[in-house]
Amino acid sequence: MSLIVLCSATGAPGVTTTVLALGWVWPLVFPARRVLVVDADVAGSGILPGYLQAGVPAGMGVLGLAAERAPITPDAVLEHCVALDPSEDRLVLTGITDPAQARALWPVWSGLVEAARDLGASGVDVLVDLGRLGHRHEPTLLVEQADVVAVVLGSTLASVSGAVSGLRALRDTRGPGPSTGAVVVGRSDPYTPGEIARELSLQHLPVVAHDTWAAGVLSTGGGLGWRFERSALLRSARALATGLMAGVDVLVPGAGS
Ligand SMILES: Nc1ncnc2c1ncn2[C@@H]1O[C@H](COP(=O)(O)OP(=O)(O)O)[C@@H](O)[C@H]1O
Ligand SMILES: [Mg+2]
Repeated sequence: MSLIVLCSATGAPGVTTTVLALGWVWPLVFPARRVLVVDADVAGSGILPGYLQAGVPAGMGVLGLAAERAPITPDAVLEHCVALDPSEDRLVLTGITDPAQARALWPVWSGLVEAARDLGASGVDVLVDLGRLGHRHEPTLLVEQADVVAVVLGSTLASVSGAVSGLRALRDTRGPGPSTGAVVVGRSDPYTPGEIARELSLQHLPVVAHDTWAAGVLSTGGGLGWRFERSALLRSARALATGLMAGVDVLVPGAGS
């Protein structure tokens, strides 16, 4: 597995939080591997002001990569990332904060798709926060080429009905195969994962725990001690990481799809 894309269809169900939680647990679940979190939300995901409070040096991130004249190689991608830990097992390629900057990023997305194959082969998995589907500068290439794409949704009626059309659009783009699925944040509020899975024609729907405290650590920064590691959010992210890495087992569409 090398390129995994998470996105939303409507609202703010928790894409960025889920991607950051996955990024944090990834090297714990797969000790031999590193992870690169890419902020590809062309509306601006908020990773920059939130999680990376310490700031990012000028010339980094997707804009720094777009400004490079040389081809976008795996090394160039890594050089424009910031590390979240001293061992550099968790890397972030920061995104844009102003949607007007999105037009400049097309070469970055195609370079990233190419680079992701080599990065995967050298032990770096790429997790993409695509933000909400349907933006006019959406990196469609990432959606088309990813190994797995999952729509993140909440369990409300509005979120589920948005995800139904989002998944339909994704299946139109990617075909009906088993690598296009969904992840629900929180359970039974009011719809259960089973009910939502049926509505989305999915056999199984991974659940990310609703955990306000741990989500707050990921969005505004804060202590990353044992309480964070053992939080409900991170435990559910571990299970999701295992499922994603196992290929697509947890995202297999139902027979009726
Ligand atoms: N698993 C979760 N448990 C509790 N709150 C969450 C969770 N995921 C996201 N949130 C909260 O919901 C809000 C939106 O989350 P965010 O990840 O930015 O959504 P998106 O990227 O889909 O717009 C934030 O306040 C965040 O802390
Ligand atoms: Mg976001």
